[in-house]
Amino acid sequence: MSKGTYSFTTPIYYVNAAPHLGTAYTTIAADTVARYQRMNGYDVAFVTGMDEHGQKVADTAASKGMTPQAWCDSMESAFRDTWDLLDITYTDFVRTTEPRHARSVKQFWQDLYDRGWCYKGSYEGWYCVHEETYYAEGDLEKNDEGELVCPDCKRPVQKAGGEENWFFKLSEFQDKLLAFYEENPDFIRPETRRNEIVSFVSGGLKDLSISRSTFDWGVPLPFDEGHVAYVWADALLAYFTGVGYADPERAGEFDERWPMQYHFVGKDITRFHCVIWPAMLMAAGLPITHTIFGHGFLLTKGEKMSKSKGNALKPADLVSVFGVDAYRYYFMSDVQFGHDGSISIERMVQVYNADLANTWGNLCSRVFNMTTKYFEGSVPAVSAEALAAANPLRALSDELYAEYDRCLAAADFTGAAAAAQKLASRVNLYVEESAPWNLAKSEETADELAAVIYNALEAIRIIALYLAPLMPNTSAEVFRRLSLGDIVAVTDIEAATTWGGLPAGNAVETGDPLFPRLDAAAIDLSIE
Ligand code: MSP
Repeated sequence: MSKGTYSFTTPIYYVNAAPHLGTAYTTIAADTVARYQRMNGYDVAFVTGMDEHGQKVADTAASKGMTPQAWCDSMESAFRDTWDLLDITYTDFVRTTEPRHARSVKQFWQDLYDRGWCYKGSYEGWYCVHEETYYAEGDLEKNDEGELVCPDCKRPVQKAGGEENWFFKLSEFQDKLLAFYEENPDFIRPETRRNEIVSFVSGGLKDLSISRSTFDWGVPLPFDEGHVAYVWADALLAYFTGVGYADPERAGEFDERWPMQYHFVGKDITRFHCVIWPAMLMAAGLPITHTIFGHGFLLTKGEKMSKSKGNALKPADLVSVFGVDAYRYYFMSDVQFGHDGSISIERMVQVYNADLANTWGNLCSRVFNMTTKYFEGSVPAVSAEALAAANPLRALSDELYAEYDRCLAAADFTGAAAAAQKLASRVNLYVEESAPWNLAKSEETADELAAVIYNALEAIRIIALYLAPLMPNTSAEVFRRLSLGDIVAVTDIEAATTWGGLPAGNAVETGDPLFPRLDAAAIDLSIE
């Protein structure tokens, strides 16, 4: 029985460049939630996609000598292949140039127009094509050459607008938004982002220009076909398209899935998600996504890493050295979601060796080896009393689901990884304390030996379950080595992690080390 729907999104990424470590970071986080909530019994919708309209993409295509559509088509495989490489289990991949998405955009804006939220006007201001945003003159900065530049990306801005455009009456939502933030303290996470948004909205809101008539690379507005929707007035609606809005082939799905639990975004785009998007939804009389989580930036040498600064090592480069699972684990465990985090190859090797090679991988090797040595490679049988007897692993394990679930429900991936590691470290210590190699010396301690090995194997089974959303491949491999079923078939992780689930007699295969130790000096990569 499903616990209900659990739906969320990554940003719909611009196709001006291929995915990089930053976009992969958000996507892996969303995938960790997807995998966990499936194991937790929810019916998951995980929407991602490509943001293909707007001036930035049109300019990129022109610089490549391609039509915008041809350029976008050529980028699809770059995105899909990267997500496949990282084992991302999205349920819908929305391209904003698809007819089904144009239908969403048209239906939504027609509705807002009919409700009286749109009007024609004109605005001239400073526009940053890279950020696809207007800035007030007072917010601009100057570069060394004295040019006015965007306060976010520091690129020169251009004077734009002046012609007639359609506007959305965003200014009317100031009080409603402030009241909404007040009543829904979880709407903007983490707290720092919430404070920024509250203070921004308290400063007053201007109406938003939602159309462009100076170029045609976009979805035409249904009530004025000479105008195309502004790229954000288009892309946010991909969240709707991904759960069947305005789609006759998916009737009923949108009502089941909207509002969503989360939009996972970087802090660069929280304003669009926490101000414009909820105002659009309020105007349409629709419920609002439960939480916008604005995570921090990946930093290299103290600076935001981005595709344009050329400091973008490709996800595939890291996967080839560390493997997919260790890649996912590093970013999820070491860069606290919500904070900026510095990344480096040295740190990645350190985390790999400490948590994966020395703790988790080593634990599996040791205990599987001892099972082969003392019990001919099968899970020892233990008496009902021995199974029921208190042991430190069980005591810790019994408390873990609540802690782990709390972390993952709150997108605290570092906390979830730490919960699993805590049990792994405890098992390593337990093995030391119980010294199975001494217990094996005498027949008198045979029952005790069986209990120690059983407990250690059982804890390994449970750790594999908790690590599966982060490291799906190695957890599946541990399940295989324990002759357990397919780990992705688990739909009740709370029941599955209840102590005592490992059947006696299951064959146990030692296999190769799951995470062979790495030598930083031998790795010829750097994240610049
Ligand atoms: N197209 C818009 C989003 C529209 S959503 C309806 C967009 N696209 S983007 O390609 O520029 O992606 C921005 C997102 O990429 C960020 O919000 C974040 O999720 C991710 N990241 C890009 N660089 C990053 C870092 N250096 N660090 C972490 N994440 C970053 O904005």
